[in-house]
Amino acid sequence: MCPDGPAPRSEPVSPAAHSDAAHMARAVALGEGVRGTTAPNPWVGAVLVAADGTAFEGATEPPPGRHAEIVALDAARAAGADPEGATLYTTLEPCSHTGRTAPCVEAVIEARVARVFVGVTDPDPKVSGRGRTLLIDGGVDVREGLCAQDVTASLEPYMQQRRTGRPWVVLKLAATLDGRIGAPDGTSQWITSPAARADAHALRARCDAVLVGAGTVRADNPSLTVRDSPGTDPRRFVLGTAPSGANVHPCTEVSGPLREVLEALAADGVVELLVEGGAHVAGEFHRAGLVDEYVVYLAPALMGGDDGLPLLAGAGATSIDELWRGRVTSAIRVGPDLRITLRPLTHREGPSAGTVAADEVAGHPAS
Ligand SMILES: NC(=O)c1ccc[n+]([C@@H]2O[C@H](COP(=O)([O-])OP(=O)(O)OC[C@H]3O[C@@H](n4cnc5c(N)ncnc54)[C@H](OP(=O)(O)O)[C@@H]3O)[C@@H](O)[C@H]2O)c1
Repeated sequence: MCPDGPAPRSEPVSPAAHSDAAHMARAVALGEGVRGTTAPNPWVGAVLVAADGTAFEGATEPPPGRHAEIVALDAARAAGADPEGATLYTTLEPCSHTGRTAPCVEAVIEARVARVFVGVTDPDPKVSGRGRTLLIDGGVDVREGLCAQDVTASLEPYMQQRRTGRPWVVLKLAATLDGRIGAPDGTSQWITSPAARADAHALRARCDAVLVGAGTVRADNPSLTVRDSPGTDPRRFVLGTAPSGANVHPCTEVSGPLREVLEALAADGVVELLVEGGAHVAGEFHRAGLVDEYVVYLAPALMGGDDGLPLLAGAGATSIDELWRGRVTSAIRVGPDLRITLRPLTHREGPSAGTVAADEVAGHPAS
């Protein structure tokens, strides 16, 4: 992690540069702390370091609340500190347009902040580069790209949503080691342990929306709330019709081609969508190439036979040449289970790209 990231440094790092990176790392952590609560806005973090070195922190508030930069500026003023001459570290380029709130760039310029470190440029066409230009025109010293790798890793779902007009899609399933998510009698609760379920609830809290198929609503009657982990409940969507009285209500029922469904969700403000199955919905998303991240909890259990529900129902590969291949981005033990996270290969990657070291599987998650 930034500031001591994995990339080897070729030159000595000055103490100032080191503390700049530490402040931006803190801003990333602040943003991550509000992830799942800010849609349709991004989860931005900001640190304002006053001329005397005192730091004030901010993170995006739920709509229609303040943006991270304003929260940090207000925190400084509330403490009696003058932001004039301060340095602001913000994970995302400050906004330049009036939406639910006034433009952050105006507030930064009016406060006479001297320098702004920006993690990444906002891809939103309403901002993209304009915030930076306005700050420079307002006499602010703007530096871009500090800890850009870590900032991008944190804000990737938001950036993709703004670029593609579709939410970032995480497909999460719990399976036996032989890849079954449900038994022939329709039961699937519970394949994995309470520890894995708590971990999955933390994933639910990280996402601002969750979607399941009508088949899962009929079979499991899930509530899709966050119970076994801190965090807020995501908005709930059902593909198809949810029977009246189902625990998933109040929810929004959606239907039609998945790309159109996703575009409608993004237009409605969804940034990061957790798809929790079942088998047919998972297969549909997978075949359409609409999954950005696969999270599979694997229990040390075997169903056996060939009539249990597979991870991805519907047509699959017909030969080894047609296998879908991904890149493992993490593999962690959660209680007695494994959590494996996969991403689709990018065009530049080969089949063995990005695999984790074998000993990473021995670790336990912090949650
Ligand atoms: N282990 C796990 O992680 C896990 C997670 C979830 C579920 N499950 C298990 O999986 C089973 C349910 O899976 P499933 O494959 O039977 O059902 P499903 O995938 O949850 O839902 C399929 C249904 O969703 C609706 N649907 C799908 N795509 C649609 C679209 N584009 N537009 C409109 N509606 C659409 C259709 O509903 P209609 O039929 O109403 O038209 C379809 O029959 C249950 O046994 C459950 O316990 C396991």
